[in-house]
Amino acid sequence: MGTIRTHYLIRRGRVLSLLSLILACIVSNSHEETIRRNQFPVEFLFGTSTSAYQTEGAILEGGRGLSNWDVFSHVPGKIETGENADTADDHYHLYLQDIDLMHSLGINAYRFSISWARILPRGRFGDVNPTGIAFYNSIIDNLLRRGIEPFVTLYHHDLPQELEDRYGGWLSPLIQEDFGYFAEICFRRFGDRVKYWSSLNEPNLYAHFAYLRGMYPPGRRSEMEPFTVLHNMLLSHARAAYLYRSRYQQKQGGSIGIVVNTAMYEPLRDEAVDREAVSRALAFYVSGVLDPLIHGDYPPEMRHHLGARLPKFSVEESKALNGSIDFIGINHYSSLYAKDCINSPCPTGESHAFLGFVYTTGFRDGVAIGEPTPMPRFFIVPDGLEKMVEYIKTRYNNKPTFVTENGIAQLDQPGQREVLLHDNKRVEFLKGYLASLARAIRNGADVRGYFVWSLMDNFEWTNGFRMRFGLYYVDYQTLERTPKLSAKWYRDFLTPNATDEYDDLLVKRSRVANWRGVEVDI
Ligand code: BGC
Repeated sequence: MGTIRTHYLIRRGRVLSLLSLILACIVSNSHEETIRRNQFPVEFLFGTSTSAYQTEGAILEGGRGLSNWDVFSHVPGKIETGENADTADDHYHLYLQDIDLMHSLGINAYRFSISWARILPRGRFGDVNPTGIAFYNSIIDNLLRRGIEPFVTLYHHDLPQELEDRYGGWLSPLIQEDFGYFAEICFRRFGDRVKYWSSLNEPNLYAHFAYLRGMYPPGRRSEMEPFTVLHNMLLSHARAAYLYRSRYQQKQGGSIGIVVNTAMYEPLRDEAVDREAVSRALAFYVSGVLDPLIHGDYPPEMRHHLGARLPKFSVEESKALNGSIDFIGINHYSSLYAKDCINSPCPTGESHAFLGFVYTTGFRDGVAIGEPTPMPRFFIVPDGLEKMVEYIKTRYNNKPTFVTENGIAQLDQPGQREVLLHDNKRVEFLKGYLASLARAIRNGADVRGYFVWSLMDNFEWTNGFRMRFGLYYVDYQTLERTPKLSAKWYRDFLTPNATDEYDDLLVKRSRVANWRGVEVDI
């Protein structure tokens, strides 16, 4: 009798927990919004994003000069995996195939960057490389032929090494002249077809990682150099924008903007000082780039806390900076907790002037702010994107904005190709962040485009090839690209009536002429 009763209780328990599971699913599904293409404006740009050094490879081909990353990645110990991007995705040779993949996804825009050292192997101290020009001309023409808008970044972390060696790269004001020279060549040679230019990718992250943390070339660790570098980057942007606006914009009809790295912050404790830390982190890191380009000077918050330590713009410089962007690009991957370091102690070595004397962490009392991802500082917090867009909208009078990067990494697991291809987590990530963006747009934000980072797995800087951000899986032995589940999801999201076949997302073998007019198989 006792045993029967026990069985009955166990079975009843199981039935109850099954019921509560079903109920939980129904409840959670009823909260889940279905995200659809038609929740975004018809003319909205939906694309994928890459950068030159992370994908192109062919570092010694076609007359290209060496870049800072070629040199840095070959220094033992700089890249966690000991890898480099000498070949990367070999996009230099496979770009036609890659454009076909984009086309099959149904995207209408592609964000990529131009390798400065491919156009000017020695900066302005040498000749323009005609093979480099031909290569990017071919990318642009082939994109347009398939109805894909080129969205071009001039500088995505890769500098001709010559400029580093000659005068210390971004630490010297001489870089402004070089960047203007490079930018003008690009406007002149490509601007008849390129309508979206971003001068620099993430000057804030680059100054931070390359000059404060020593993680990116030239690998320096200084408290004040990041300010000098940011200052020179902003003035370099202003130079490029001046050249574009005065000589090209009117006849070419394009626009120029900049891309800033953003994380959203939440106060670590529900205390005034940590709430203040949130505002300060945003003011220093995000507005430290955008205020000068929109209002002509650094944010009052930076001036207040740094006084004479903050570099100054001359009256002329400030005039050139003021209003020098047509749009704001934001790269967004995560939210973090922010803790004040001015009025309360922070972990040693974690209070930096460049970051507004704010310590940021993904954890509060051991609990993560959102689901952790393989990138230690990236957590899944979809609402963070809506909040970030709201911050930009409010502070910059609803300036046209693009989400130029958003995505999630998978940790490479040798022998786990099938697992990596079934990237449900990425699909959920994209759904969540797109729903958050749609809410921001419904609330009036003038957001005009969204780019997934990344089209395909690529060289993830200091992490080497260990972090896979792609919609397409890349086999680094054969260089074969295979669509992941997320590629199919993005295709279906963009083109709801697409066939259900996975094969559509594979390259159809054909013979095409490459930019040298040579017939090749893709
Ligand atoms: C960069 C990309 C990078 C991505 C993921 C962004 O900061 O612009 O180059 O791959 O983050 O870490």
